[in-house]
Amino acid sequence: MKKLVFLTGAGISAESGITTFRDSGGLWEQYRVEDVASIQGYYRDPELVINFYNERRRQLKEVQPNDAHRLVAALEKYYDCCVVTQNVDNLHERAGSTHIIHLHGELTKATSTSNPNDPRQIVTLKDDQDIQMGEKAADGSQLRPFIVWFGEAVPMIEPAAEEVSKADIVVVIGTSLNVYPAAGLLSYAQQDAEIYLIDPSPNNVPGYLPVHIIAKKATEGMKELYQQLTRS
Ligand code: OAD
Repeated sequence: MKKLVFLTGAGISAESGITTFRDSGGLWEQYRVEDVASIQGYYRDPELVINFYNERRRQLKEVQPNDAHRLVAALEKYYDCCVVTQNVDNLHERAGSTHIIHLHGELTKATSTSNPNDPRQIVTLKDDQDIQMGEKAADGSQLRPFIVWFGEAVPMIEPAAEEVSKADIVVVIGTSLNVYPAAGLLSYAQQDAEIYLIDPSPNNVPGYLPVHIIAKKATEGMKELYQQLTRS
């Protein structure tokens, strides 16, 4: 089986009703990223940040995976697939993908403020379970969202780079490729890997790689690519 690695961003969940970050009307026009998505912001005002992610977690109940998530999962029948996602939603899981690397954490998990990457501190929450101020992790520190914020290390980048380096095909869907280290993952692709990018407004596409651009929304672009990738 050939190895197929997806790199996904907020755009794949846009048609499910989750707002992207940098499009017009995106989340970073409504909130200051340094207030709600940085480790400094969390230390300044933990309650604001905890509530911001509580709201995002509650939204998970209201949204469903779309055809792009479903077609990504369906390709497991034909390829050895891995989904590397910057998204903190659980729509890839709910669509049936079984090998997912979350680079920026997961809304459905919480961890400790003192040791956020210690596996013993990480707990799974229900889609609508809020984290409360004063609620403690196993090590006694404040429970916090299991999210990788600006200013923090990205522990899953190494396994993700390893997956990309072994891929025969890489499919990038719905990311502005603005945020590093995630945006640098394509540089790990083998020279002869086939690379596709699905995004209605592709930008920051590395010029040094032969990327096949499908300038369409995720659902439409994935339908087209699914047919191409399953044609024998
Ligand atoms: P962005 O909001 O930066 O980019 C979203 C991309 O999706 C853009 O390139 C859009 O053109 C594209 N897009 C919009 N609608 C789409 C659709 N229906 N189908 C396909 N593509 C569509 O989101 P990310 O690149 O995911 O991190 O952002 C990366 C990181 O920045 C996030 O993980 C988050 C954010 O700050 C943290 O908070 C740590």
